[in-house]
Amino acid sequence: MKIIVTGGCGYTGTVLTQELIKLGHRVIVIDTQWFGNHLKKSNRLNIIKKDIRNLEDKIFDKVDTVVHLANIANDPSAILNPNLSWEINVLGTKKIVEQAIKKKVKHFIFASSGSVYGVKKEKKVTEDLSCVPISVYNKTKMISEKVLLSYSNKIKIHCIRPATVCGFSPRMRLDVSVNMFTYQALKNKRITVFGGKQIRPNINIQDLVKVYIHFIKNPKIKTGSYNAGFENLKILDIANLVKQKIPCKIDIIKKNNDPRSYRQDSGKLLRTGFKPSSSVKKAISDIKNKYENNKIIFDEKCNTVKWMKKIGLSRG
Ligand SMILES: NC(=O)c1ccc[n+]([C@@H]2O[C@H](COP(=O)([O-])OP(=O)(O)OC[C@H]3O[C@@H](n4cnc5c(N)ncnc54)[C@H](O)[C@@H]3O)[C@@H](O)[C@H]2O)c1
Repeated sequence: MKIIVTGGCGYTGTVLTQELIKLGHRVIVIDTQWFGNHLKKSNRLNIIKKDIRNLEDKIFDKVDTVVHLANIANDPSAILNPNLSWEINVLGTKKIVEQAIKKKVKHFIFASSGSVYGVKKEKKVTEDLSCVPISVYNKTKMISEKVLLSYSNKIKIHCIRPATVCGFSPRMRLDVSVNMFTYQALKNKRITVFGGKQIRPNINIQDLVKVYIHFIKNPKIKTGSYNAGFENLKILDIANLVKQKIPCKIDIIKKNNDPRSYRQDSGKLLRTGFKPSSSVKKAISDIKNKYENNKIIFDEKCNTVKWMKKIGLSRG
């Protein structure tokens, strides 16, 4: 198949693209490369360093599927420049789905976010519950889903709502909870937890890549939104899982500026035939192994918001 991966140089996109190439697909990556490019060269891979807002229609020629990951990709980064976030995450998404439709692409898969639910007390947060997004980032994801689904009579739409992703990628992110705690334990032998009682769903990056491939392989799965998260854990429990593998001290700071707390239920995804095979524990071990073998380059790019400020993407 010929597949476009927007954001293919990012944390998830790098692992997904390499896997698609291994499976024999031809991949076109479209990425501004804000965090560099760690993709290995391949004659089945074409990397286009461009903004999704300025693409020529011909890029979509004979493409079977678009996997759309290119967004301002977390809460603190989206708030740096809300106008830019709305332009990229929503208007950019609208533009490329229209280009895909114009070029008769049949299938569009969007990386939404599990955070669209906001704060939820329910034990099972399924796709039937309301979205009450509490940040610019969450709002852009919810609106993009609505915009995309409004085109579902013209192109197959699947919106994936990933939990917080964890595990190793050549474009490493250390601003996501499991990865951040693992790195703190390895480097400082101390983990700092803010609050600790908030519950967050998690997904190993290997499982998330499998989710995208599951949808690519099964375009007939019913149009709509799908949760993708398999371990709902308190932040403090995540710190303790890290401590089991990497001896360290846990410092708890009561003040917590991030009230998001929710559990995801991914029964709808499981009923499509998807089976997860990895875990948070595996993510911690993988990062530990890479660290001990000097395979992780820890630099400022690993913290999305700090790096985006540095390269001038904040407002004014
Ligand atoms: N990592 C997570 O925990 C998580 C959880 C839920 C949803 N998501 C979503 O999954 C997607 C991928 O996330 P990630 O963690 O790989 O983030 P990332 O920031 O590592 O990757 C995003 C990539 O998109 C590129 N990009 C951003 N704006 C662009 C534009 N206008 N044009 C072209 N390229 C652009 C960036 O250069 C980057 O390489 C995002 O949409 C994110 O919102 C991520």
